[in-house]
Amino acid sequence: MDMNHVDKTKNADQLGPGADGTRRRFCQIAIGGTAAVSAAAVGYPVVAFLRLPKSLGPVELMEVPLEELVEGYGYWGEHRGRQIVVIRLGEEIRAFDGTCSHLGCIVRWDSASRMFKCPCHEAKYDDLGNPVSGPVNAPLRRVEFVVDEDVLKIRDFFGQA
Ligand code: FES
Repeated sequence: MDMNHVDKTKNADQLGPGADGTRRRFCQIAIGGTAAVSAAAVGYPVVAFLRLPKSLGPVELMEVPLEELVEGYGYWGEHRGRQIVVIRLGEEIRAFDGTCSHLGCIVRWDSASRMFKCPCHEAKYDDLGNPVSGPVNAPLRRVEFVVDEDVLKIRDFFGQA
């Protein structure tokens, strides 16, 4: 008798004691493996998210030595995740949040025309941050600062230095 021959007319019970157990075991391993991979795929991002540190945001505070503020030019920096531009016009120093009031692009300071220009939809603001042209009605947000020992320090948006 050929030992490799499988009689396909018989069901698992008729094939002997090992055939059904092997198939069942294979199905259990396949289902268990699929469930384990699925659980890991779903669970890992959740666990990774929950283990993240509490403070993810940028915490840097923008400080500028006054000597680095050049007449007519913009000095850019980051303060708590916001792009800040500081301009010096004569003896007056002004600081702005560089976020366009239209849809949030970052404006550019054009020292030649002394205007802020948004590259996204061509809004223009004067050197006080007031809208001049383009699709904007609101001014750029002024940012408070203090000068301490010849260093300009942007104040926190919550009023703290
Ligand atoms: S985002 Fe600045 S003009 Fe639209």
